[in-house]
Amino acid sequence: MSSTETILVLNGPNLSRLDLRERTHYGELNYPQLHKLVEDVAQELGLKVDIRQSDDEATLIGWLHEAADHSHPVIFNPAAFTHYSVAIRDAAALLRAPLIEVHLSNPLAREEFRHTSMIAGVATGTIGGFKEDSYRLALIAMKGLIEANQ
Ligand code: DQA
Repeated sequence: MSSTETILVLNGPNLSRLDLRERTHYGELNYPQLHKLVEDVAQELGLKVDIRQSDDEATLIGWLHEAADHSHPVIFNPAAFTHYSVAIRDAAALLRAPLIEVHLSNPLAREEFRHTSMIAGVATGTIGGFKEDSYRLALIAMKGLIEANQ
């Protein structure tokens, strides 16, 4: 893994509709603005990112398979799938490079059904609760992991 390695930044269901969701949890940015922030921070840090969003579980699983096949590091906001998708956890467990689970909100401070993460147990680490800065922090952490591995 090198710093020229492409990091897949994967986003799950309803994240494309951030402008219509609760700002107290998710912050002020809409999805295109979040996408741009991730691109800009990655560029500042000298990282290459491929940012994707899908509402579809099978598509997300396909992208995790692709990351596993090519040893891509992954920053992943599985959104609602976090809390119940065994299939997404099983796909995430196939990854060989680091996986950082990211959330805009802090799921542990919200409804009880959000307190379970199917992904956390197979992730390198989890960052949540800092709104869009969760992604910034995830990119900084990923850079550290990549450099430590060079
Ligand atoms: C989320 C938290 C999830 O509980 C929720 O279903 C989402 C977004 C977050 O980024 O805070 O859709 O993953």
